[in-house]
Amino acid sequence: MKGVVLAGGTGSRLLPLTKVTNKHLLPIGKCPMIYYPLARLKEAGIREILIVTGREHMGDVVNLLGSGNDLGLNLTFKVQDQAGGIAQALGLAEEFACKEAVTVILGDNVFEGSLREFVEDFKRQGLGAKILLQKVKGPERYGVAELDENNKVLSIEEKPLTPKSNYCVTGIYMFDSDVFSIVKTLKPSKRGELEITEVNNIYIQQCTLSADIFTGWWIDAGTFDSLRDAHDLVQKSNLDDQVLNLLES
Ligand code: DAU
Repeated sequence: MKGVVLAGGTGSRLLPLTKVTNKHLLPIGKCPMIYYPLARLKEAGIREILIVTGREHMGDVVNLLGSGNDLGLNLTFKVQDQAGGIAQALGLAEEFACKEAVTVILGDNVFEGSLREFVEDFKRQGLGAKILLQKVKGPERYGVAELDENNKVLSIEEKPLTPKSNYCVTGIYMFDSDVFSIVKTLKPSKRGELEITEVNNIYIQQCTLSADIFTGWWIDAGTFDSLRDAHDLVQKSNLDDQVLNLLES
């Protein structure tokens, strides 16, 4: 199992903070944002990781992380020339994955607790995809799952005006190696992006997507409000110190 951290995009919801730097280099507590997904992958036993980011900030990202050696990781970097969507960024990982399964984390996602049990479950699942859901108050800003009475995911809608549930899709995705041929079939959405939600819907149609609920706190730190909440939660729980320990041990 290899890891992919997606750290491209425009960061437009955090302007002017992101005018001259990449969103994933902004601080949350004592750590740059990107440390949080990297630490979760390392803790789940995944040390071979590809980082995808835009051309403007690749230099800064490499300056921060280097080869990954100091963090106990083996890092590879790939440029996404334009922010064409999460699924487009993932498509750039095909060669790196080299037919292995991948665990993908969005670079602005902070998970309170370990993801290891979910990665282990997915390894046992052996094929298809796995996502983690979380019950939230304002699901409209996320991918939202439609669930049946047994909590089976029937479909996912990206940023729906009238969400079918309060369960949003968090930014961790586990995929078998078929994901790269699936990405190649996608067409840009109305907002001009290749959508990760479409990828997940294809796995749902194939009946090979499993979903678990992540019960710890989780934050997508891509807006001013959520960035402030992330700071508060990280400081209250000392998650920044834990992440530094994880990465430096
Ligand atoms: O955080 C969970 C949500 O993330 C999911 O519920 C949604 O289904 C999913 O689409 C995504 O929504 P966002 O609106 O938060 O996506 P955003 O455009 O902020 O991108 C998330 C991360 O993906 C960002 O930290 C950088 C990376 N990214 C994004 C784009 C558009 C790339 O690497 N390349 C890109 O082209």
